[in-house]
Amino acid sequence: MAELFTNLTELPPDPLFGLKARFSQDSRSDKVDLGIGAYRDNNGKPWILPAVKQAEKKLIEDPNYNHEYLSISGYEPFFKSAAKVLLGDDSIAIKEDRIISQQTLSGTGALHLAGVFLKKFYQKSKDIYISQPTWANHKQVFETLGLNVKSYPYWDNSTKSLDLKGFLNTINTAEDGSIFLLHACAHNPTGLDPTENQWDEILKALEAKKHIILFDSAYQGFASGDLEKDAYPIRKAINEKIITSPIIICQSFAKNVGMYGERVGAIHVILPTHDKNLNNAIKSQLNLIIRCEISNPPAYGSKIVSAILNDPSLYSQWRKDLITMSSRIKKMRKELRNKLEELGTPGKWNHITDQTGMFSFTGLTPEQVSRLEKEHGVYLVSSGRASVAGLNEHNIDKVAHAIDEVVRNVKSKL
Ligand code: LMR
Repeated sequence: MAELFTNLTELPPDPLFGLKARFSQDSRSDKVDLGIGAYRDNNGKPWILPAVKQAEKKLIEDPNYNHEYLSISGYEPFFKSAAKVLLGDDSIAIKEDRIISQQTLSGTGALHLAGVFLKKFYQKSKDIYISQPTWANHKQVFETLGLNVKSYPYWDNSTKSLDLKGFLNTINTAEDGSIFLLHACAHNPTGLDPTENQWDEILKALEAKKHIILFDSAYQGFASGDLEKDAYPIRKAINEKIITSPIIICQSFAKNVGMYGERVGAIHVILPTHDKNLNNAIKSQLNLIIRCEISNPPAYGSKIVSAILNDPSLYSQWRKDLITMSSRIKKMRKELRNKLEELGTPGKWNHITDQTGMFSFTGLTPEQVSRLEKEHGVYLVSSGRASVAGLNEHNIDKVAHAIDEVVRNVKSKL
């Protein structure tokens, strides 16, 4: 039968979901999951946000609740309010009707849709620049669509800080009108975000070359606990009209609403000026792609998120929930750093508290990560990325000792 197909070989497991599967099969009772980016409470359990619980109750008790199809664009109260969360209620782009929104299968669905759209319709360049390093899925999402995936320097391993010079240099030397994918906040995997001044410089450089920005916004509210602060580069680029090319935003509600498996997200295309015909054309083309791929978006999660965004009391509960999650993560960062410093673990550990969001780019090498998994049952991605959300008061001591052991015994430079 194999001769019927060409190039059909078995692929290795996905790095993140493969790790998740190995973790589930591990029978050690004190194993620790610092792999996939999903929030856990102080007992290591998934957390349903109180705002979500209240919204679910409200939704199901509504006598008009049903499971009818949504429109191809999705649930309008959801994607309209989702745009406001990103851009702010008084965003000029919304007022001037320069935004086209489409509900998607979370952030990945939005990235895929953006890729399909740009490949088909964007004329200036098929080069898409992603940060080095970036979320493992970015490269394959765009490569499978036939875009030319290139990278810009981001993380300087020697200083564990942003390689701003390298980043700007790539912006300045890329073909005019290239596509640049930017993590809006809580950079995955490094947890390192540009400062506001650095963002200003980056945006200015992108504008000078008329590059197209594709923002990946998967952690708004999760990095700082503050929705406004985490939207800084998006709002700066759009509301202050720093960027005069179209901008695309891929938005996920997996993490900040904790509805990972419900796949709630949206894509927003922001045009520099109001153009009714272009607006309608883009909307209809996005609709066609969605109709061919998934017919219409899933309803349940988007109704929950819409309830949260449109009901003042649920919204204020959500803002509290964001603070609960982000503060617990910040606390775990501090404790891990303190413990490693107390143990005198070789190397510097300040980057753990300097970084933000779900992840810490620990600086551990693939060999050290592998030993952590085998000897200690502590699971993280081979790049050394640790999901800080997997730490809690019951396992942090064990994790610190395990890191200390591998750093001392697996000799590689930090
Ligand atoms: C992660 O990076 O761990 C998450 O975004 C999960 C995923 O889909 O890869």
